[in-house]
Amino acid sequence: YHVDWDLVTAEKAGFDHFMLKEIHEQPKAYRDTMLGRIADDGKSVNLTELSMTAEYVKSIRKVHIVACGTAYHAGMVGKTVIESLARIPVETDVASEYRYRSPIITPDTLVIVVSQSGETADTLAALREAKRNGARVLAITNVVGSSVAREADDVLVTWAGPEIAVASTKAYTSQLIAFYLFGLHLAGILGTKDEATVAGIITALGELPEQVEIILENAPVLKQVAESISHHKNLFFIGRGVDYAVAQEGSLKLKEISYIHSEAYAAGELKHGTLALIEEGIPVIALITQEELYEKTLSNIKEVKARGAHVLGIINAGNEVEVAKSVDELFAIPKTLPLLSPALSVIPLQLISYYASLALEHDVDKPRNLAKSVTVE
Ligand code: G6P
Repeated sequence: YHVDWDLVTAEKAGFDHFMLKEIHEQPKAYRDTMLGRIADDGKSVNLTELSMTAEYVKSIRKVHIVACGTAYHAGMVGKTVIESLARIPVETDVASEYRYRSPIITPDTLVIVVSQSGETADTLAALREAKRNGARVLAITNVVGSSVAREADDVLVTWAGPEIAVASTKAYTSQLIAFYLFGLHLAGILGTKDEATVAGIITALGELPEQVEIILENAPVLKQVAESISHHKNLFFIGRGVDYAVAQEGSLKLKEISYIHSEAYAAGELKHGTLALIEEGIPVIALITQEELYEKTLSNIKEVKARGAHVLGIINAGNEVEVAKSVDELFAIPKTLPLLSPALSVIPLQLISYYASLALEHDVDKPRNLAKSVTVE
């Protein structure tokens, strides 16, 4: 009798891969990242770990978010979150580009660096550049005591726990949670959102972990979608607003571990060139969670369908009947506030990438040519 047991298998806690385990750890990562940061009455956010004063917050004139890879995609959502909750202008940059474009960094610029590992060379260099120019730096990182955490003025730790798979999942979504909390923190000080709105967002944040569980229960459907996608060489992700930011993350995830080429496009931009690439049978994954952009995205879906695309719609629960006629397949996510939808809509995309990689028999956790943490520029 032989028991096949090793440390790595044990660490996977019964899952076949770290990535799948980490996808399933997201409800806990959301809860842990929110833990202790919301007032008992559920009406405000308390980021007591931050040393920045209310007076400083009132002096911020612009925010620069700087990061690489998946963290950059979280920063794209972060831009929308901060601009809509705190009404401060935000720019999001890829760290390897930021320093070389002579960014206008002034003492009233808050620079937010986002890094799961806290060790990415380009991100660290951007942080140093920001500090040299007199800006205050807030780090959103998953590693307490990392280089980025040590050098920043303030740190907001994401409590996702160790992430082993190269393709980031729970670190990304906990970065989103950190941005929601920070946006609410700013709004609380600046008075840019009324109390009822803030309380409503906090309630919706609290519902996210269970909503993620619901999505995870529906994962088997996505396995079939992924298997059919795995036969293709090219595909597209489209969306508008924060759906576009999530489309970028979905496309990156698929490229990283399935090696299938895909592009993320702002849905309204397709007709300015990319539509030429749409041909019979090409899969298009369309995110349609933003109600106010709904009709516009549906009309873009019609454009690709008319050219033979096979469309999977990621939609809000409740819209099934209405969207069913416009798409070939759909996957519904539980209803949340439009601003919070990335924390749900990315989950099916993570699962599709995972199952596509599996179908193609790739090394899910250790994709070729990639490293978990990149410490060279
Ligand atoms: C590497 C990883 C990516 C990650 C990026 C930034 O390329 O493979 O998954 O998004 O680095 O890493 P960081 O630790 O700074 O978030």
